[in-house]
Amino acid sequence: MNLLLRSWTTWTCNVFLLLNTITGSFGQYSSGAGYATDEVSTSQIESEPLETGPVLEFKYHDHEEMTRYLRAISARYPALTALYSIGKSVQGRDLWVMVVSASPYEHMIGKPDVKYVANIHGNEAVGRELLLHLIQYLVTAYKTDSYIKWLLDNTRIHLMPSMNPDGFLISREGQCDTVHGRHNARRYDLNRNFPDFFKANTKQPQPETEAVKEWISKIQFVISGSLHGGALVASYPFDNTPSARICRSSVLCSVFQSYAHTPSISPDDDVFRHLALVYSNNHAKMSRGVSCKSGSRSKFEKGITNGAAWYPLTGGMQDYNYLWHGCMEITLEISCCKYPPAHELNKYWQDNKESLIKFLAEAHRGAHGFVMDVNGNPIDRASIRVKGRDVTYHTTKYGEFWRILLPGTYKLEVAAEGYLPQEVEFFVIENHPTLLNVTLHSAKRIDGGPYYRPPPLLARPPPTPSGLFSTLTNSFNSFVSNIFG
Ligand SMILES: *[C@@H]1O[C@H](CO)[C@@H](O)[C@H](O)[C@H]1NC(C)=O
Ligand SMILES: [Zn+2]
Repeated sequence: MNLLLRSWTTWTCNVFLLLNTITGSFGQYSSGAGYATDEVSTSQIESEPLETGPVLEFKYHDHEEMTRYLRAISARYPALTALYSIGKSVQGRDLWVMVVSASPYEHMIGKPDVKYVANIHGNEAVGRELLLHLIQYLVTAYKTDSYIKWLLDNTRIHLMPSMNPDGFLISREGQCDTVHGRHNARRYDLNRNFPDFFKANTKQPQPETEAVKEWISKIQFVISGSLHGGALVASYPFDNTPSARICRSSVLCSVFQSYAHTPSISPDDDVFRHLALVYSNNHAKMSRGVSCKSGSRSKFEKGITNGAAWYPLTGGMQDYNYLWHGCMEITLEISCCKYPPAHELNKYWQDNKESLIKFLAEAHRGAHGFVMDVNGNPIDRASIRVKGRDVTYHTTKYGEFWRILLPGTYKLEVAAEGYLPQEVEFFVIENHPTLLNVTLHSAKRIDGGPYYRPPPLLARPPPTPSGLFSTLTNSFNSFVSNIFG
């Protein structure tokens, strides 16, 4: 009784807050990145029964049904969710994102933001529905499940059920292997539409891709999953390989096709393999490496693969997340059939539920902390590098950084313009993230002389391969000269 009363009070309170938001100051309750949250009409709030959340059936939801569901959830759970749109598709459909967190409207300083993006290929429909069910599960389990409560109290989870609503519209249930609906309305493959580190991507940037690029430049996501269909495997960076650079003449290109199954190893290969395994091992059957084609042997040992080892591609989203924004994204192929019949959706949800949750919690592994000046003021865009891992991360405007790492000892190289660069040795243990606060000292000389400028670290995005990549390219070149004499 007491509890019920309390929740009623909270509810009233939140409605008040929400109404406030609607009638006036959007900015104050922004999702933390300058996006206006969705307007929820008061009539919708009143018509929603308070005892039960919006019903979510195991069926496919078209754009309007999905929009209605997301609005109903944000009205029913205003303290745990916020709905915002990062832009529109070619045909003008909103690219919805729902935040699920104990702090849905504001970034929690020092705590990670994470995301899932589904349905980037419009005809790969399972992920779209799974994210709707994930929302439902998280908001209802918050009160009863201490693990989910911990996760939402310490993480902001951004879920985008569809990055390609136009493609989804023309896709058809039951079509397992076609490409109909894969592309956006201008016939671009959105997972080939991002800037690429290894090869210039000349494809015209699409509105869906531009929206996502802006989104991930505004919010420092620590970890991410991109949900696909057509296979059963967790695939990790790199998707592209230095070899693509050499692929200029068609003769070379065709020769390269036969050598395409070479892994393209990132500086964080150990971490990415671990993350992919977290997904695969918590999945009902992915780790068994069962093949989608009956009778054929699967090539995915433990249900994971390096992206390029499977097949290299240019302009993919996961390499971009990692190299441009220090967000560790992997690609999750979660159904052999791209658009299976709706009655199978419950099974897919059961198969993936544990994986979807455990993977996001990996954002809490490794080291994180703040970079500050001697007065304790945060330093924005300080560069963060783990020695031996030639990829540069940057601090946020609050001076925060996150670096997912497996147990071990590491050296952190921190640098910012106008400050003396610093090296910090630290170790990471299992189960507890390492908190690292780094204070940088001004490089200003006491005698008023010019500032000391730290040597530039690998710029991001780097214009040409350097550092690690020159090594990669060199060994690749010797591999190439071995083939071609
Ligand atoms: C690290 O810095 C943050 C932000 O200034 C502060 O809240 C926290 O208490 C510090 N932790 C330690 C262990 O110094
Ligand atoms: Zn796909």
